[in-house]
Amino acid sequence: MPRKLAAGNWKMNGVQASLGEIRTLAEAHAGSDVDILICPPATLVSLAAELEGNIQVGGQDCHANKNGAHTGDTSAAMLKDSGAGYVIVGHSERRTDHKETNQQVHDKALAAWSENLIAVVCIGETLEERENGETNQVLANQLAGSVPIGALAANTVVAYEPVWAIGTGKIPTFEEISQAHAFIRGFLASQHETSEAHGMSLLYGGSVKPSNAAEIFALNNVDGALVGGASLKAVDFSAIISALEASA
Ligand code: PGA
Repeated sequence: MPRKLAAGNWKMNGVQASLGEIRTLAEAHAGSDVDILICPPATLVSLAAELEGNIQVGGQDCHANKNGAHTGDTSAAMLKDSGAGYVIVGHSERRTDHKETNQQVHDKALAAWSENLIAVVCIGETLEERENGETNQVLANQLAGSVPIGALAANTVVAYEPVWAIGTGKIPTFEEISQAHAFIRGFLASQHETSEAHGMSLLYGGSVKPSNAAEIFALNNVDGALVGGASLKAVDFSAIISALEASA
């Protein structure tokens, strides 16, 4: 069975005072039977990782190289050294803002694995692609291009994040989420060791909130969520984690 994971992506939000949100989560969910992850900005990774409790910490991106002349970038080795256990790669904001290609995302995932970080590989279609009936084709291309061969349940999480649902308050229908996740599971099984593909956690992301989390977590092949806006405040993220715990 895939592990249940509630992952929060703080994006470019959060200063040291925000670490209190993580402390609150750790107190509220001590002994939780689901995995809880916060991906704060790089400036807070080591401070977040030093906090007591069971909240895991991840980066939001990494460079494919271990070190070198890449001003402003952070390597997987640096995240590992800071106490991270995960790193998000291929988030749509990176694919759009930084023109990241599937190949670059693939190389970042390999870099993550080489440092024993779990890669959270993000994929998802635009609204235009969905309206043109291209969703499965887009997901297949992104999965084939971004998830390196050899992916294991222990080192890879796939997050399905329709681009048009991120930060917009809009989500696909539950039927559409189910269909996308079933397609992703099947496609992964066609490319990777079947038992590994079936053990990989598949997260839904895009406008997950306390009010819709329980229904999303009830869907087949949804093993958790990647949450942006609603992960910034412990009270909201805690409600989402509780919904996941109740579904486990
Ligand atoms: P959102 O972001 O929850 O604010 O829609 C999700 C994400 O980008 O991971």
